[in-house]
Amino acid sequence: MPLDDFTIRPGKPEDAEFLLPLINRAGEDIPERIWAQMAGPGESSWEVGRARILSEDSGISYRHSWIAEAEGRPAGCLITRALPDPSPPLDPDLPPLFVPLQELENEAPGTGYVYVLSTLREMRGRGIGTRLLGFAERYRGPRGMSLIVADNNTGAKALYERCGYREAARRHMVKDGWDSPGSEWILMLKP
Ligand SMILES: CC(C)(COP(=O)(O)OP(=O)(O)OC[C@H]1O[C@@H](n2cnc3c(N)ncnc32)[C@H](O)[C@@H]1OP(=O)(O)O)[C@@H](O)C(=O)NCCC(=O)NCCS
Repeated sequence: MPLDDFTIRPGKPEDAEFLLPLINRAGEDIPERIWAQMAGPGESSWEVGRARILSEDSGISYRHSWIAEAEGRPAGCLITRALPDPSPPLDPDLPPLFVPLQELENEAPGTGYVYVLSTLREMRGRGIGTRLLGFAERYRGPRGMSLIVADNNTGAKALYERCGYREAARRHMVKDGWDSPGSEWILMLKP
C-alpha cells in the first residue's frame, strides 16, 4: 500500500515510549542488555532506556532522533550523526562487545553515520526506511555516509545495497553473554 500521508519531524520527549523498542530492535537487542546492566536496584532495563531517551545528552536522546509519521502516527525512526575526523583512539575501558563496532566506526571518519534506523513491524515494506535513509543523507559528512549492519540482517543489508551502500569492512562479533544468530558486523559506506 503506498504512503499517502508521510512526514519526518524531530523527536519529542513524548516519543520515548515509541522509540524504546525501535532503538532496541535496530541495535540487535544490545541496548536492552546494556540498560539491564546499568539498572539500579528495583529499576528495569526499559526504565533505564526511557531515561536515556529523555536525557538531553545521551547518544539516543530524543533530541537526536527523527520520527517518520505515516497516516497520522509515528511509524519509524532515525538517529544519525557525523563521525569525528580524525577518529578517536580506542578507549581501553570500552566493553568488549563494543570494540568491533568502534573499530568499524573508526574506519569511517568524517562520514554521516546512520546510528539507528527502524520501522514499526506492521509498517515495513512501504518505503519508510528508504525515505529515512534518504533524509539521513542530509547529514552526509565530507567522506559520504556509513552504517553498521549485522551479517544475519540480510533484509536491511539488501535495502542498504539498493540505496547505494557497499560493504567496506567486517569484524567478528564479540558476544560476551549477548545472544545473536549473527557472526560478523559489516561496515557499509556510500560515497
Ligand atoms: C530495515 C528496516 C528499517 C527497513 O524499513 P522499511 O520501512 O521496511 O524499509 P522500506 O520499505 O523502505 O524497504 C523495504 C526493504 O527492506 C529490505 N528488508 C528489510 N528487512 C527485511 C526482511 N525482514 N525481509 C525482507 N526484506 C527486508 C528489503 O530490501 C525491502 O525491499 P522490498 O520492499 O523491495 O522487498 C526495517 O526492516 C526494520 O525496522 N528492521 C528492524 C530494525 C533493523 O534491523 N534496523 C537496521 C539495523 S542496521
